[in-house]
Amino acid sequence: MTAERQRAEGRGQKAEGAGGVRGAERAGEVEKVEAAEAARGAGEAEEVTQNSKLKTQNSKLSSPTPDSRLPTLPPLGKLYGLGIGPGDPELLTLKAHRILTSVPVIAYPMMESGKVLARAIVADFIRPEQIEVPMPLPFSVERSSQPYYDTGAEAIAQHLTAGRDVAVLCEGDPMLYGSFMYIFNRLAGRFETEVVPGISSTFASAAMLGAPLTYRNDVLSIMPATLDEATLRDRLAVADAAIIIKLGRHFAKVRIILDELGLLSRALYIERATMPNQQIRPIAAMNPVDVPYWALILIPSETRPQ
Ligand SMILES: C[S@@+](CC[C@H](N)C(=O)[O-])C[C@H]1O[C@@H](n2cnc3c(N)ncnc32)[C@H](O)[C@@H]1O
Repeated sequence: MTAERQRAEGRGQKAEGAGGVRGAERAGEVEKVEAAEAARGAGEAEEVTQNSKLKTQNSKLSSPTPDSRLPTLPPLGKLYGLGIGPGDPELLTLKAHRILTSVPVIAYPMMESGKVLARAIVADFIRPEQIEVPMPLPFSVERSSQPYYDTGAEAIAQHLTAGRDVAVLCEGDPMLYGSFMYIFNRLAGRFETEVVPGISSTFASAAMLGAPLTYRNDVLSIMPATLDEATLRDRLAVADAAIIIKLGRHFAKVRIILDELGLLSRALYIERATMPNQQIRPIAAMNPVDVPYWALILIPSETRPQ
């Protein structure tokens, strides 16, 4: 038995103790085992011998308890959603680094072109013996990503069912417009799950731009440029401070709205924040066709505290 497997055994018992969906599922399985044993009857000597063997094995795995039959079920792996920050590998948290370098399986979204930003951020920390599970995603408005997440979640579930822990890499923070949320929604009810927060590109960008975002009672709005023009205008008109993400081909529309609302002079543009090829450029100088997906506009608060 490997150390990893032993950890998984211990964790499995903890999760069951805590109850929840997984605990309930496994309790159901135990009931089935008990019912099957009862049906077989006590007189079947061969099976009794087999059960004794299993019990002996189990007593080596964990301290004997009334539930010592539980480990006869395959232990499940743990799912991690790892926020890996906006691009600079030094912005990985210590916790994300520890988990990343110790899990047997690493999964990450992959563009159909084969580009894998999340993996590239942490490439130096991945070891050759770790199993990699790229999850192809269309990154397209014409095709829904949801069937692709179904497929990716199923590939991850197979490793978890086999007892292998899986870390899913997510650029920035996993719970803020993060791709991991779609895996979380599919698997967190079935497997023990831990989400490790990451430094969001939104906040990293404020740091790179040297732009204090909000003071005192200011309200910050984060909004995708993919919103329709009217909604985007309405939201920006009432925002004390704002961050507009998912720019790419929506940049021209956003620039017109900022101009209309008199926000152009306050708005700051950054692409690939904290990456080696980071760019901070005046919005007026940008050619819309050059604006990548990995770019945002930040509008800091106008509040100037005394
Ligand atoms: C799907 S959202 C993911 C946000 C991510 N979970 C986070 O917390 O940063 C992707 C958008 O975040 C912004 N973004 C992500 N990384 C960035 C970076 N390094 N520099 C600038 N913008 C970035 C871009 O606007 C991009 O379109």
